[in-house]
Amino acid sequence: MAKVNANYLKLPGSYLFSTVAKKIAAYSQANPDKKVIRLSIGDVTQPLAPVIIDAMHGAVDEMAHAETFRGYAPDLGYEFLRSKIAEWDYQRRGCDITADEIFVSDGAKSDCANIQEIFAVDNKIAVCDPVYPVYVDSNVMAGRTGTYDAATGIWSDVIYMPCTMENQFSPELPKETPDLIYLCFPNNPTGAMISKEDLQRWVDYANKVGAVILYDAAYEAYISEEDKPHSIYECEGARTCAIEFHSFSKNAGFTGVRLGYTVVPKDLKVEGVALHGLWARRHGTKFNGAPYIVQKAGAAVYSEEGQEQLKAQVGYYMNNARVIYEGLKDAGYTVSGGVNAPYIWVKTPNGMSSWEFFDYLLEKASVAGTPGSGFGPSGETYFRMTAFGSYENTVEAIERIKKI
Ligand code: MLT
Repeated sequence: MAKVNANYLKLPGSYLFSTVAKKIAAYSQANPDKKVIRLSIGDVTQPLAPVIIDAMHGAVDEMAHAETFRGYAPDLGYEFLRSKIAEWDYQRRGCDITADEIFVSDGAKSDCANIQEIFAVDNKIAVCDPVYPVYVDSNVMAGRTGTYDAATGIWSDVIYMPCTMENQFSPELPKETPDLIYLCFPNNPTGAMISKEDLQRWVDYANKVGAVILYDAAYEAYISEEDKPHSIYECEGARTCAIEFHSFSKNAGFTGVRLGYTVVPKDLKVEGVALHGLWARRHGTKFNGAPYIVQKAGAAVYSEEGQEQLKAQVGYYMNNARVIYEGLKDAGYTVSGGVNAPYIWVKTPNGMSSWEFFDYLLEKASVAGTPGSGFGPSGETYFRMTAFGSYENTVEAIERIKKI
């Protein structure tokens, strides 16, 4: 008789952004006259940059002719894209990463969720709290997190590293030694950034205790402060302890196009086994490559013209971040983030719970954000707002909130 993976039954509720979407849909149905402004899921709203569209059109035309038609992509991704990534995202920044250490995928979300498969089930994970829910949920599905306490929102076998106002949303080294450490900077959801010195501390720690850092750099393009690290490989020793994830969703607007990549350095070994080989094996068996058209579009990011157009797009969203940050601050809210990240992290007023504040904003202003508690217990009494809306909607949302 077939049996289900019982680990799935342990997952509380639905995926955070599905729950939020359902609540917004119910509100809209009950209030058809109200226009809801969604500053909840970090989904982009600006059209793809002209340089990307041109590259896609060119690739579509290639697919129309036998001489230039492409079928399955190479396992790790097309060389034309991987070599550009290695050069522009790493070598130009002084990071020692080569094209054959880059695995092209359909996005950072899938890679962040799937990477845990190459590690034993009895590895102990450490996560920032609050945290992007995919890291914990995917480990729950794998049976790595123990039992869930609904009252506290805590999994018995997960090491939580609280990131709160008291420690400037910066995780401290855990007291209990983890095997896998998830870090995300610029941070989703708090919008906080890490200094090079602090990141180096994590790299030194991981190398010392034999842990692997799973570093999510999806929001790297939003770093505005010059001295902040764009990659964990800027730190000495990261090649022997870190895997890095990148997305084209946030820097180039590919949320609906789908493209990302993961870096697994060849020096990274666990129990003498090179993780590069394991990830290559997994990739080969379970993934058939991002579409040629999309990889061509990704390659267009790495040109002077592409960089210029995308810098303008990132600037557009960061202007929204400023509007939210300053507007809410003017209105008396305690806010952080928004400087090196497209997320603004708001303290709920008068001790309201995150979900109470979600309902309050939706009902009083028809504005939707994301409740901080959905990202982990230390996110309670916080609220996330995204800068990925249109400028007009962002301004209107803040005006509505100010009028409450
Ligand atoms: C978010 O809102 O946290 C992200 O957009 C979700 C994602 O990238 O999967």
